[in-house]
Amino acid sequence: MAGTLVVGSQWGDEGKGKVIDAFSKTSKMVVRYQGGPNAGHTLVVNGKKTVLHLIPSGILHPHAKCVIANGVVVDPITIAKEIENLKTNGFLKEDSQLLISDNSTLILSYHRALDMAREEAKGIHKIGTTGKGVGPAYEDRASRKALVFKDLFSADLKQKLISALEEKNALLTYYKKENLSADTIYDELMKVTKLLEPYRCADTSYIVSQAHKNGDDILFEGAQGSMLDIYHGTYPFVTSSSTIAGSCLIGTGVGPNMIDKVIGITKAYTTRVGSGPFPTELLDETGAFLQKEGNEFGSTTGRARRCGWLDLVALNYSIRLNGTNEIALMKLDCLSKLDQIGVCTAYEYKGDRLKEFPSDISVLEGMKPVTEFLPGWKKDITAVNKFEDLPKELRSYIDFIEEYAKTPVDFASVGPGREQSIWRRGIFS
Ligand code: GDP
Ligand code: IMO
Ligand code: MG
Repeated sequence: MAGTLVVGSQWGDEGKGKVIDAFSKTSKMVVRYQGGPNAGHTLVVNGKKTVLHLIPSGILHPHAKCVIANGVVVDPITIAKEIENLKTNGFLKEDSQLLISDNSTLILSYHRALDMAREEAKGIHKIGTTGKGVGPAYEDRASRKALVFKDLFSADLKQKLISALEEKNALLTYYKKENLSADTIYDELMKVTKLLEPYRCADTSYIVSQAHKNGDDILFEGAQGSMLDIYHGTYPFVTSSSTIAGSCLIGTGVGPNMIDKVIGITKAYTTRVGSGPFPTELLDETGAFLQKEGNEFGSTTGRARRCGWLDLVALNYSIRLNGTNEIALMKLDCLSKLDQIGVCTAYEYKGDRLKEFPSDISVLEGMKPVTEFLPGWKKDITAVNKFEDLPKELRSYIDFIEEYAKTPVDFASVGPGREQSIWRRGIFS
């Protein structure tokens, strides 16, 4: 029996989807508990790529029940497309494999319109959101005017849309954007409600707790990354949900006793999409090299990801925020051609050496990273399947990270494919 929580250690896109897919081989349940279609989780199986935004990344394993819990913001149009796409490709044969909480928050077209209008109004100060309406939907939840998943199936849906649009259209007018019509939104929703109805679940918290009582292995799939957390990330350049481990309990509606282990998914270098401080960003040819080798383009928006060296100051902060027990180190193959690999071990700020991640983003904007260089391994590692067979320089790189982070690296990823996964001590050690 184990509850394993998988969280992003950095600014998202660390490879959570791949890890969840690989780990789902032995899990009975995978739970998404926060975020929404701003996430893009990529799975590669037998060379075929699947990108999921809302559906948990265990879905390619028919034995893994996939649960979308209360804390997620669900765009019905996006999830309907995902479901259709999975079915076309021969997955999700049994409707009972996917459960969507009746009490999850809906993202509707006015949330997307407001997200984009606000970004446009901010101009150069924009957050660089994904434009998926995630922030405005969470705002509605917090101000208790959100529609929830079950409203899609209620007789007064149209009336609820009319009421919601009174305020939303006033806001859109303020941003000089076209007003939206309740009829149009309603008609659009009616095209997907029949498809979505079989996945309704009145109480996902109960379902997850029952699975736990049965002794099932459960995976909790975080979205985004710890540095994008609304309370502990590089605010205001963050997402609108809490992305750290604690959020799993709130979003799912379970207690801490359900979590046996927290795995921090960590890219062997760092990327960030959108605006905001990025201490180790490389704006030179090495940054361009990482972007090319890692194919660093957003899974959700296609935007180029900013790239830089691994930041151990930020990683240690993330380990603290999450209580990370183990690190899964991703995309090691993307570093294979480098003569030397940089690792940031401190920040220099006004003559001081900072070892702790500063909470004030103006410090982040004014500091310089202290970078140490380790020898590269200069070997193709994409077919290696045992930890001991990894090149010694790579194992030294891992030792360096473990020593600095005081946390074991128990999983190494050497390519995007499911099988390009190296476990040191088994999936649920
Ligand atoms: P997520 O949001 O954390 O699930 O990550 P994304 O799917 O947005 O981005 C990670 C990208 O890296 C995807 O394109 C994955 O297929 C790819 N990927 C994951 N692990 C590896 C790896 O070890 N090596 C390489 N080359 N690509 C990887
Ligand atoms: P996964 O789960 C990377 C970033 C956006 C922007 C900020 C706010 O694939 O790792 P939002 O649309 O959430 O209001 O945008 O957060 N962001 C992500 N960056 N990976 C993600 O998800 C992200 N989800 C949001 O780029 O900077
Ligand atoms: Mg992603």
